[in-house]
Amino acid sequence: MERKPKIAVFTGAGVSAESGLSTFRDSDGLWAHYRIEDVCTPEALARNRPTVIEFYNLRRRELLSARPNAGHSALAGMEEDFHLDIVTQNIDDLHERAGSSRVVHLHGELRKLQSTIDRNWIVPIEGWEQNPEERAPDGSLLRPFVVFFGESVPMFDRACEIVSRADLLIVAGTSLAVYPAASLVSYVKVGIPVVVIDPGDPDISLVRNPITLIRKPFAEGMARAARLVREIL
Ligand code: APR
Repeated sequence: MERKPKIAVFTGAGVSAESGLSTFRDSDGLWAHYRIEDVCTPEALARNRPTVIEFYNLRRRELLSARPNAGHSALAGMEEDFHLDIVTQNIDDLHERAGSSRVVHLHGELRKLQSTIDRNWIVPIEGWEQNPEERAPDGSLLRPFVVFFGESVPMFDRACEIVSRADLLIVAGTSLAVYPAASLVSYVKVGIPVVVIDPGDPDISLVRNPITLIRKPFAEGMARAARLVREIL
C-alpha cells in the first residue's frame, strides 16, 4: 500500500477567529484587554487565583457557543488522502470537533484542568465554570490545563518530531511571536515546501524553505491550500 504523504499543520488563534474566538495580538485581541502578567503566568495564579480562573471561565464559555469553521473541516477532510498531524497553540477543541484525529496541543487544553503540583494529573471539566475549591487527589487546588508564560512546553519535542518528518508544512493563523512554539518552522527538512495562511503579517523570518504565502482568512485560505497541496504532493 502506497505511503500517504505526511503533512504537518501548525496553527494559532487566527484559525479560530472565524469561529468567533478572539485572537491574542490582533488590534481587538485578548492582550489588548488583559495583561499577560495578570492572567497567564504562574505568579498571577499564585497571587490572584480568582482573576486567572475567571479569565479561563470566560474563554471556556465562549468556546461552548463556538463551532468549527470551514477551514477546520477542510483540514479534517485532508486526512483521507494524507497522513496529517496538527500541532496547535490553541487551547480550544475546534480541530477535534471538526473531525481531526491527530492533534497535539502545545499550550494546553481549555476543557481540562490539572493538579497544581503534578502537571501530569489532568481531568476534563464539565461545562464552562471551574469550581475554584475543587482539588486533585494529591490535595492541590486544580488549575486550568494551560501552559503559562514562563512554564515549560512538555509537548514541544513531540511537535518537533512531527514537523521534522513532514513532506510539507502548513502554518495557519499564528503571528509566530511566541517561543519555543514559533521555532517549529525551522524544524522542517531542507527543501520541504511551507504554505502560510494568514491575512496579516506573521514573522516568517525563521522560514528557510520554499514558502507560499496565502494572504487570506483561514477558511478561504485553507481551501486554496488544499488544492495547492494536491498539486505539490
Ligand atoms: N484567518 C487566519 N489568520 C488570521 C485570521 C483569520 N481569520 N485572523 C487573524 N489571523 C492571524 C493574525 O494575522 C495573526 O498572525 O492570526 C494570527 C494570530 O496571532 P496571535 O494573536 O499572536 O495568536 P497566536 O500566534 O496563536 O499566539 C501564540 O501566544 O499568547 C500566547 O499562548 C498564547 O498560544 C498563544 C500564543
